Amino acid sequence: MKQICVVGVGYVGLVTAACFADLGNRVIALDVNEQRVENLKKGVMPIYEPGLDELVKRNVSGGRIHFTTSYAEALKDAEYAFIAVGTPSGESGEADLQYVEAAAKSIAQNMRAALIIINKSTVPIGTGDWVADIVKSAQPNPNEFAVVSCPEFLREGSAIADFMSPHRTVIGSMDKDAANKVAHLHLPLRAPIVITDLRTAEMIKYASNAFLATKISFMNELADLCELVGADVKEVAAGMGYDARIGRHFLDAGLGWGGSCFPKDVEALAFMAKEKGLNPRILNDVMDVNNDRRKDAVKNVTKMLGGEIKGKTIGLLGLAFKPNTDDMRYAPSIDISAALVRAGANVRVYDPVAMEVARPLLSAEVTMFKDPYDLAKDCDALMIITEWNEFKQLDLEKVKGLLKTPVIYDGRNIYDPKVMKEVGFTYRAVGR
Ligand code: NAD
Ligand code: UDX
Repeated sequence: MKQICVVGVGYVGLVTAACFADLGNRVIALDVNEQRVENLKKGVMPIYEPGLDELVKRNVSGGRIHFTTSYAEALKDAEYAFIAVGTPSGESGEADLQYVEAAAKSIAQNMRAALIIINKSTVPIGTGDWVADIVKSAQPNPNEFAVVSCPEFLREGSAIADFMSPHRTVIGSMDKDAANKVAHLHLPLRAPIVITDLRTAEMIKYASNAFLATKISFMNELADLCELVGADVKEVAAGMGYDARIGRHFLDAGLGWGGSCFPKDVEALAFMAKEKGLNPRILNDVMDVNNDRRKDAVKNVTKMLGGEIKGKTIGLLGLAFKPNTDDMRYAPSIDISAALVRAGANVRVYDPVAMEVARPLLSAEVTMFKDPYDLAKDCDALMIITEWNEFKQLDLEKVKGLLKTPVIYDGRNIYDPKVMKEVGFTYRAVGR
């Protein structure tokens, strides 16, 4: 049985820890956030992720996963230490590496035997070498170690399934033996394993996220043209997606990409290119197109309400940046609700799971509702912000009866325009 230490129990760290435990390894998951660790010991999850609660509890009962705030305890018998701490955007768009640096120092100060340190956080190219330098200089007594990059590709909302069945496992290291050991750890996942040098593995992660974000921005730009020429972007995407060279995923036009990864990673990649004297033209446009989606949604709903939203009541359905998560990082709902409040609208919001996380991020003037029908009562318009399944199943006749005026702006294309017309809504979607 391998002993694994996972540093950071956020979306990636906790899923990594729980999944490795479920694969039969002994895992100690560590975080500097005492509250998080205390809660986890009591079975309270720090995040909403479908299935995670059950997975953690099963492996706690099986004695395969433990939680601690002590690096000494976590590293006592560890062969592997995964770093899964946050790498948010810094002031100029660069990745802020302060948490990685702190984790690397703490690992160095507390390791007592040979260790393979694996970077799972998304980190700028060259960070693996930098981490190796930190560990070398911060160790009180020299112990053998290797640094390996093993970027994570899971999506929130389907994190466990993505972790357990990845499209590929990418492993980068200058130490072939360490890379092979990390590959061995991932064999039960039965995915193709790509072994590269450190910097190439780090670049694969950024390139993958930036490429997916590019696909979405491309479709969003196309959606605007579809509206003007009378085409339906949803059907265009379906028609394109059958071509294996294009692929059918990440072609959904809408309010654009948010979340904890695409925004900061595209920006960080552009920052790296600029730092090297390049002009990242595509990445800059991909970000510009994305930022405009939120402004355009507000403009469009304003148009639907006759050009004035001052004093109007607008209900937002969905707050999380995507369904099946309570993550609010860079969620379109933050900018859209703020713009509506600034324009003088009364803003109501509802989300099945993200309300508590969202509250401090929204203007105090935004009113939260516990039920979509209560929210709809006397609204001048509804906006679909997150494509939760429960919004797809709403009783549309009932919603129409509750609204003051039957106006719906569907930012995620969840309804059929024909049906909406039949029910009698003034309905606008994206690119159709
Ligand atoms: P998160 O903010 O949810 O969690 C980070 C955790 O690290 C927090 O619990 C924090 O308390 C802890 N931490 C910070 N400093 C620490 C330290 N010195 N020692 C121990 N713990 C420390 O972050 P996340 O969303 O899980 O992202 C982690 C990394 O994984 C990032 O680099 C991110 O880009 C990458 N990533 C995230 C996702 C995702 O969907 N969230 C997917 C793939 C990759
Ligand atoms: C993303 C990557 O997919 C994952 O590989 C990486 O590890 C972390 O970042 P995540 O942010 O959890 O995962 O969600 P994802 O499903 O990729 O969606 C990201 C954003 O793109 C969301 O805001 C979503 O609404 C948007 N999106 C996605 C679209 O607008 N259209 C699409 O077709 C797909």
